[in-house]
Amino acid sequence: MKAKVITITNQKGGTGKTTTSLFLAYGLADRGKHVLVIDLDQQADATFSLSQGKQYDDSGKTSFELLTGETAAKDCLVPINLLIDLIPATKQLAQLDVALAQNNMYRADLLKDAIKSIKSKYDYVLIDTPPALSILITNALTASDYMVIPTQADLYSIKGLADLAQTIRQINNKKLKVAGILIDRYNARTVYSKVAADLLSQGAATLKTKVFDTKIREAIVVKEAEHQFKSIYDYSKRAGVTKDANNFVDELLEVIQNDK
Ligand SMILES: Nc1ncnc2c1ncn2[C@@H]1O[C@H](COP(=O)(O)OP(=O)(O)OP(=O)(O)O)[C@@H](O)[C@H]1O
Ligand SMILES: [Mg+2]
Repeated sequence: MKAKVITITNQKGGTGKTTTSLFLAYGLADRGKHVLVIDLDQQADATFSLSQGKQYDDSGKTSFELLTGETAAKDCLVPINLLIDLIPATKQLAQLDVALAQNNMYRADLLKDAIKSIKSKYDYVLIDTPPALSILITNALTASDYMVIPTQADLYSIKGLADLAQTIRQINNKKLKVAGILIDRYNARTVYSKVAADLLSQGAATLKTKVFDTKIREAIVVKEAEHQFKSIYDYSKRAGVTKDANNFVDELLEVIQNDK
């Protein structure tokens, strides 16, 4: 079976894209799934977390070379554990636009073509993206079956959904579906969070999707686990936010299961 490709994206910064990518990577692996994480963000946060602080600047085997076609996908794979592989990012991605334009390669299907040969090795391919609408996002979305949009329950996030909808309309990929909007750093105790969550639900309709029932609460263990380079499921099995993350993985799998 071919992998399902899922892009985790939001052009707004700090909305929980990398955190959600990690919840999914470790969560799917805990369910016995074989996962590939592709880091397309020049900040390389997912790379840093998964590889416990390692950097790949001079390796020549990163998502930059994958996209420029200099290195084949199979040679970019870094094994993280038995079930998770990573294609790392470096800050060189900041120069991708220029490199592609100079080589007449400014296309949206580079990533899709580049991972064709390795997709069958995995159940899921997760793509973590930078906080900007760029050639990286169009490549991620062109290669994907689904997208997940992590967001916060606040006004700027609601406003940002319209821009995202516009981007999606420009992608030449009939398969692409928005699996859902995931509210991260949720505080169920404030009235405002609830109001904003309701507004996000209305915004979801423009993207022909829904807000996931599961919301990820704001909790310090997320940062603590991150600090120790640990999966949240290992770091704090019983924490409320770990339950949220698990429920989210299950809810996403259900969406994918029902989409046949
Ligand atoms: N539920 C949560 N509770 C507490 N802290 C959280 C939670 N989710 C994310 N964070 C923290 O918020 C910060 C931003 O999260 P993250 O890096 O996942 O966002 P991002 O969208 O990937 O950011 P960027 O746009 O810079 O790539 C991180 O320090 C992370 O630890
Ligand atoms: Mg990030």
